[in-house]
Amino acid sequence: MKAVVIIPTYNERGNIERIVPITEEVFKKIKNYEMAILVADDNSPDGTAELVKDLSKKYNNIELSQGERQGLGAAYVRGMTHAIEKMGADVVFEMDADLQHDPEKIPEFLAKIDEGYDMAIGTRYSGGGSIPGAWPIHRKIFSIFGNLLIRIIMMRFWLHDWTGGFRALKKEVFLKEKEELTEFKGYTFQVSFLHKAIRDGFKIAEVPFHFGERNIGDSKIAPMSYIANLLRYVITARIKELIFGKFGKFLVVGGFGFVINALVLRALVEWFNWAPAPANLVGAACAIFSNFNFNNLWTFGERRANTVASYSSKLIQFYATSAFGVIFIQTGTIFLGDTFIGRQYYFIYFLIGTGFLLIWNFTMYSVVIWRKSRR
Ligand code: GDD
Ligand code: MN
Repeated sequence: MKAVVIIPTYNERGNIERIVPITEEVFKKIKNYEMAILVADDNSPDGTAELVKDLSKKYNNIELSQGERQGLGAAYVRGMTHAIEKMGADVVFEMDADLQHDPEKIPEFLAKIDEGYDMAIGTRYSGGGSIPGAWPIHRKIFSIFGNLLIRIIMMRFWLHDWTGGFRALKKEVFLKEKEELTEFKGYTFQVSFLHKAIRDGFKIAEVPFHFGERNIGDSKIAPMSYIANLLRYVITARIKELIFGKFGKFLVVGGFGFVINALVLRALVEWFNWAPAPANLVGAACAIFSNFNFNNLWTFGERRANTVASYSSKLIQFYATSAFGVIFIQTGTIFLGDTFIGRQYYFIYFLIGTGFLLIWNFTMYSVVIWRKSRR
């Protein structure tokens, strides 16, 4: 097995000079991988590339990939392609040049890969990981809350550090996502790559580490455009997931159920002279039956009920949770609004109650009725 540590550089001559010998020392302790370094340099004017060429005379496991400057993400896509295609890498690392990522941690990442994980991400926000104590308070807050906000928007809490750039991954992860990694060429690459890897079910582990201080050279990050890009990515990615994912299907099925409910209600009232209340109960019962079957076949199709027994038990659960939601949550909201605020806004209570009902139903469907069976 071969692992290539990719170090992206833009004007990092002074840092490359320091980090290469340190990393080579760490490599000596690693027995089960053939280790190599790839510097992904974007024609740095300070002569980083020339230094790498010199170093490759001393160390026979260093290569250089040069290209036009398009941002950190673009440099990694180019570097990972090079590492896999030209160096035969099975595992690739992301590691900063400026020693904010301690090369001593490399074996811990490899240990996670050996345990069967597809990707190991360094975390500064859990399990003993940390950010520099000397950072000014606003920078700390920014770093901590930024990552928290991303976890909340993505609704995925088990990974703590989405923006960091100290990672190891199997080549299969990169090859699967490569085509989709062209949209965000800068630092947002980190979040978008991780998000796609999670989406596709790759197994991901965390490696806590201390994020050091940069001593030589300057950070390349442009905070304002970075934040704008990050927010744009996480918000649009999440909306797409919701619309095209289960929740979108659930809304389509529910919308169709609503039409059935309305048609049955009107037919019974206008053609058969029923009173509206019992007519609506029949309409709702038909809608619930339609919703159940479409959700079973489509929304939660991969967890569908296949046997008569599980079909009937799911159907009963479905009627029970739907009835509970309609009576207590939707009607309850209308009742509370009517009692404590006033009748004039009754339609608003109906809309709010229906919103709560949607959340209730979707939660019950995904965590109770069509819950994932544990393997
Ligand atoms: N080739 C190339 N091209 N390398 C780049 C570019 C680029 O456009 N921009 C940055 N780099 C290299 C730097 O030379 C450095 O080796 C590494 O990427 C990290 O850049 P820094 O400028 O030191 O980033 P930072 O310390 O501000 O940001 C860190 O935290 C971010 C947010 O959590 C990094 O770890 C980022 O990866 C991380 O996203
Ligand atoms: Mn840095």
